[in-house]
Amino acid sequence: MSKKLLIVAHIPSPNTRELCDALNRGARHRDVDGIDVLVRTPFEADVADVLSCQGIILGTTENLGYMSGALKDFFDRIYYPCLEETQGLPYGVYIRAGHDGTGTKRAIETIVTGLRWRAIQPPLICCGTYDAALFVKQCEDLGTTMAAGLEAGIF
Ligand SMILES: Cc1cc2nc3c(=O)[nH]c(=O)nc-3n(C[C@H](O)[C@H](O)[C@H](O)COP(=O)(O)O)c2cc1C
Repeated sequence: MSKKLLIVAHIPSPNTRELCDALNRGARHRDVDGIDVLVRTPFEADVADVLSCQGIILGTTENLGYMSGALKDFFDRIYYPCLEETQGLPYGVYIRAGHDGTGTKRAIETIVTGLRWRAIQPPLICCGTYDAALFVKQCEDLGTTMAAGLEAGIF
């Protein structure tokens, strides 16, 4: 049976759209089989999406040194309904930050620690001036790492 990878990405700008597309493309790498990739904005994603996935990647901008309000709202809606059901869920994070992204990273880690989700790697922070070549490659790699790890049963 195929596994579901849920991508929950806040995409308020062309750059963040490009990063989400790269992540999606990486997760659908031709060498990876049996992973259904579902891309949702935080506004669209709901409890049923989280309960039915085997892995999740969260993407946000750095807003006022925190995660986007949209992603925070997503967490507020899914936290208690998912708390007992999704412990151990493998997750990845990418942050598009003009500054250093540390407040955003800390805020997300606080919430996912409460949920007892499992990080597949340290959060990816695409920080500073937008570097398309580097950031796109990093997001593609994150998508492929997650999808390949789910396929192989590593995560
Ligand atoms: C309310 C608000 C607060 C923001 N605060 C920050 C911030 O603290 N740091 C930052 O780098 N960008 C901040 N931004 C800019 C967004 O995060 C921006 O959409 C994001 O950096 C997109 O990256 P891009 O400019 O490469 O498209 C803020 C945007 C909004 C709407």
